[in-house]
Amino acid sequence: MKILATGAAGMLGSGLVPAFVAAGHDVVATDIDLHRPEPFGLGGPSLGHLDVRSRDELREAFDAVQPDYVLHLAAETSLEVSEDDPGHAFLTNTVATKHVVLEAARREVPLVYISTAGVFDGEKTGAYHEWDDANPINVYGRSKYEGEKYVEQWLDRYFIVRAGWMVGGGAIDHKFVARILQQIDDGAEVIRAVGDKLGTPTYVPDFAQTLLGLVASESWGRYHMACEGDGSRYDVAERILEVLGVGDRVELVEVDSGFFKDEFPAPRPPSEIMQNLHLDLQGLNTMRPWRVALEEYLHVHFGHLVRDRTELTHQGGN
Ligand SMILES: NC(=O)c1ccc[n+]([C@@H]2O[C@H](COP(=O)([O-])OP(=O)(O)OC[C@H]3O[C@@H](n4cnc5c(N)ncnc54)[C@H](OP(=O)(O)O)[C@@H]3O)[C@@H](O)[C@H]2O)c1
Repeated sequence: MKILATGAAGMLGSGLVPAFVAAGHDVVATDIDLHRPEPFGLGGPSLGHLDVRSRDELREAFDAVQPDYVLHLAAETSLEVSEDDPGHAFLTNTVATKHVVLEAARREVPLVYISTAGVFDGEKTGAYHEWDDANPINVYGRSKYEGEKYVEQWLDRYFIVRAGWMVGGGAIDHKFVARILQQIDDGAEVIRAVGDKLGTPTYVPDFAQTLLGLVASESWGRYHMACEGDGSRYDVAERILEVLGVGDRVELVEVDSGFFKDEFPAPRPPSEIMQNLHLDLQGLNTMRPWRVALEEYLHVHFGHLVRDRTELTHQGGN
């Protein structure tokens, strides 16, 4: 298929695009910012400019590419930026999504929209499944959820795929794992991680393979796609220290989210734990336990930080 991908140079796109190319698809990768000349490695597709906030640019891109399929990844993913500037978040995540959807609808092209566990309020005990009611508590979650509604409203053939805490991107990782690794690399002796926010890490290569299977299934609808198991940010940090073999020189201290309220003031749901029930029910869930996936990620992208490879343990998820 000829696929038009938006926001393709981000953490998810940098893994998703090569996986779709390897599966034989012709991917036209676009992003707002072309600062990385070869985001998909040597021989990978080059990156074209497309700002999804511009309806003209969208129309021109659809005209030029004539896609058979759309992967809509572009988003403002910062909760803090979204909270500070709701207009920017709703323009990028909601209105732009509406316009991508309308272009796809006009041409009868199927679409994948990546959404988030952040559409839930986090009050549920136990994991959220696809038929639980959404009730976002911050601007980012609301802006992504309103995008979901346009997808459902205007398209017959779509996948809304909700991801959990993204683990991927290597050098361009700008989320929690990168933050912990940076502190370790800087020689920190004490690292603090939040124990009162629960969620499910989502490893990009696993996500890519599971999404390829889902796309092939043509079993349209709304899906959760997170790794197996759950944990807190503290649990993820603990696993990072364990895999890197630095637990003896770095003290990990569990704090509650109030500790970081100045740096991360946006409200966050207490639980973003998801189960991939819709995938499970159709035998399409190929996501691995997050502890296994995280270990692979650290080896593939941050092998230089792994102190003693011989001490590595291979644990399953919780
Ligand atoms: N990161 C997570 O933990 C997470 C969790 C659940 C779901 N998601 C969803 O997964 C998708 C991919 O996100 P990601 O994790 O890969 O985050 P990311 O690294 O921030 O990637 C998003 C990409 O979209 C680009 N972008 C922003 N505004 C744009 C615009 N107006 N036009 C075109 N491109 C634009 C960004 O460029 P700049 O970097 O230059 O802004 C970035 O390259 C998003 O839809 C996100 O909502 C992410």
